[in-house]
Amino acid sequence: MSNPYPLGLRLEGRRVVVVGGGAVATRRVPALLDAGADVVVVAPELTPALRAHADAARLRWVPRRFVPADLDDAWLVQVAVDDPQAGAAVSAAATQRRIFCVRADDRHAASAWTPAVTRHGPVTVAVLGGGDPRRAIAVRDAVRALLGAGEGAPPPPAEGADPQVRGPALGRVALVGAGPGDPELITVRGWRLLTEADVVVADRLVPGLLLDELRPGVELVDAAKIPYGPSRAQEEINRILVDRALGGASVVRLKGGDPYVFGRGGEELLACAAAGVPVTVVPGVTSAIAAPAAAGIPVTQRAVAHEFTVVSGHLAPDSPASLVRWDALAGLRGTLVILMGLKNLAAITATLRAHGRPGGTPAAVVQEGTTGGQRVLRSTLDAVAADAVAAGLRPPAVVVVGDVVGALDG
Ligand SMILES: C[S@@+](CC[C@H](N)C(=O)[O-])C[C@H]1O[C@@H](n2cnc3c(N)ncnc32)[C@H](O)[C@@H]1O
Repeated sequence: MSNPYPLGLRLEGRRVVVVGGGAVATRRVPALLDAGADVVVVAPELTPALRAHADAARLRWVPRRFVPADLDDAWLVQVAVDDPQAGAAVSAAATQRRIFCVRADDRHAASAWTPAVTRHGPVTVAVLGGGDPRRAIAVRDAVRALLGAGEGAPPPPAEGADPQVRGPALGRVALVGAGPGDPELITVRGWRLLTEADVVVADRLVPGLLLDELRPGVELVDAAKIPYGPSRAQEEINRILVDRALGGASVVRLKGGDPYVFGRGGEELLACAAAGVPVTVVPGVTSAIAAPAAAGIPVTQRAVAHEFTVVSGHLAPDSPASLVRWDALAGLRGTLVILMGLKNLAAITATLRAHGRPGGTPAAVVQEGTTGGQRVLRSTLDAVAADAVAAGLRPPAVVVVGDVVGALDG
């Protein structure tokens, strides 16, 4: 058998027919949609996942068995049924129309093979295993591990950069959410950018284990150790981000949780943009949701809470600088998640009580959620401030107020 000839198909707006609506089609369709293909699925039944795509008009479902005319406007067909007779009928219709046909039922009879794929930003690596999918997957996994570890991975060009245009190298900044504490809760993209970075500027709350995996030679700036007061320190961080990127470095600004949730990510983005430095923002798993979840508290629950509000308790309720309407929050029935609120908890709970939130409302404090040091205190709005002091709880912690606190208790 001759070697296959690899191609990158540009499917945007081009019709791809998938025959079959089961597990194989469910796995194949997302990549076709991601490539912008005009996907038509021909099958009497669909899995719930495929039906959701159909309901959202991301694909067109033809709810019956295949007929050759289904291929009339197609560029590619994928047989996703395990019946060789049905597969052969699709194959024959495809050959007649000179359309490439991928077959899940009989890869030796197929005119095209789908490779095992790993994607790293703009780079796609596709592996064909000579007709043996297990070999392809094994090689793909090895390549993925290599790229994931940052060994040999060429740094992707800055977003929007034209690789043909040469000039002084311009670096880039990525504002990456590190997640709430468990190092496994960073996103895949955040992790990739982190392992490719030349410079990492890390916050106090980012999981230390993530920093263990950085490339040798990376410059690690501990933002918590920058002297001066909070506002000068922020200016200094902005300056470091801009300077290093203008010097050609790939800079990751690694921030606890999500960069835009009480994280000053917006200020850093504006500072970079003002200096002409390209910035990417990689959202993170915020502690506002993850810390309660790790303590068994869902922030919403059917028939219990249909809203949740995340608020900073950094400033006391009577502080003239506070932008929080505690009186209005007291009137809500849903879940209140308070970040940075331990210090002012007695004043916050008293204010909520004074404006009508019942004192018996369940409340909880989750300290160092998702980490090995996680501590959870369950109480009520009336008692939580004193209970937290008595238990010696300390930041970082989130306070949750609302009936969701006991919603999953058996
Ligand atoms: C400056 S804010 C940053 C929030 C972060 N950007 C996020 O999305 O999670 C810091 C506050 O987040 C909360 N926090 C962060 N990590 C936490 C964790 N693992 N457990 C509980 N609270 C956490 C605490 O309220 C802490 O004082």
